[in-house]
Amino acid sequence: MNFKDDFPILKNRNIIYLDSGATTQKPQCVLDAIENFYKMHNANPHRGAYSLSIEATEVYENTRAKIAKFINAESPEQIIFSKNATESLNLLAYSYGLDNLTPEDEVVLSIMEHHSNLVPWQYVTKKTGSTLKYMYIKNEYELTREEIKEKITDNTKIVGITHVSNVLGTINNVKEIIKYAHSKGAIVIVDASQSIPHMKIDIQDLDADFLVFSAHKMLAPLGLGVLYGKQSLLDAMRPFIMGGDMIEYVYEQDTTFAPLPNKFEAGTQNVEAVVGLGAAIDYIEKIGYDKIQEVEKEVVSYAREELSKLDYIKMYITPNEANHSAVISFNVEGVHSHDVASILDSVGVCVRSGNHCAQPLMRFLNIDSTCRASFYLYNTKEDVDRLIIGLEKAHKLFSKYV
Ligand code: ALA
Repeated sequence: MNFKDDFPILKNRNIIYLDSGATTQKPQCVLDAIENFYKMHNANPHRGAYSLSIEATEVYENTRAKIAKFINAESPEQIIFSKNATESLNLLAYSYGLDNLTPEDEVVLSIMEHHSNLVPWQYVTKKTGSTLKYMYIKNEYELTREEIKEKITDNTKIVGITHVSNVLGTINNVKEIIKYAHSKGAIVIVDASQSIPHMKIDIQDLDADFLVFSAHKMLAPLGLGVLYGKQSLLDAMRPFIMGGDMIEYVYEQDTTFAPLPNKFEAGTQNVEAVVGLGAAIDYIEKIGYDKIQEVEKEVVSYAREELSKLDYIKMYITPNEANHSAVISFNVEGVHSHDVASILDSVGVCVRSGNHCAQPLMRFLNIDSTCRASFYLYNTKEDVDRLIIGLEKAHKLFSKYV
């Protein structure tokens, strides 16, 4: 089955899109849902007593309920909309971290975190006098059980872990990490931005305390993040951004705040993106994660195989395919990743190059950048063939200088 036909941009432009880790393309059904919202239901949710505003509120709140069901959250109130996964993580750092960390406490992150789940914790640990520690990866680009047990201790208050690395594609065993962290009394924040497009998340089964993800990486529009939190933790947290619709009563000097989820949703929200996310979830559920994984596995295994035949390519992936998602970072010997990406662009192949917002990981790996091909359900083996043609071109062009 070829899903490309569902994605107008992949038919309209002669490109091979291998940058779904940065953002995914959008299927027609998502574009239609947004258009229909503006043509039929557009008003500001929660603001008006007239029926159009009530309809907009219903559309907005129904999607919240759909997301709760999609990840098996206990209740829709635990689903908070934000601007992006970065904002969701900042919310946690400011509203949970600043108020709960003391100088005796430690925050433990993995070295493969995106800057979004790292820089806010640098700020908050410095402000609170707490300590920031890292779990490092071993040769196979994975965290070991020993490393997890060495770093997460009785002093750990917060563990921040990406479910899937946006650079390495490594799938972390977050369920095991959460169980261990809980046994030490720590809470766990899972960054699911790179996992939820590709695999089923059952939040009650994972038992994560907080989980964040990004709509645009799962076929929905840009500009929308999601935060899930355990009810008791969210209830106890103070708001992050303040303004309209997050209040209960406002006096000249004081304010009481609205209950969940409004407490964390100040100002007019990105309703069109919420609508688009609802349609994206319907699309993913219609196809099913089993099918998505089947398609991706075939393409990613083929890419691993074909890339490994090129002796001038170094890949940064675990040899354990079961722990590897749909991201392949690599370098071409002696050629900078930006040059490789430019040559690939000349044959219509879109890949990301650079440090992928993961400079500490780059430093740990002793490199300054990589090229990254990231795949999704609309990619095919033919796309991989075009990638290989582009890489051969890059190698040929630059080999005389190597
Ligand atoms: N976080 C996105 C990426 O890894 C933008 O490309």
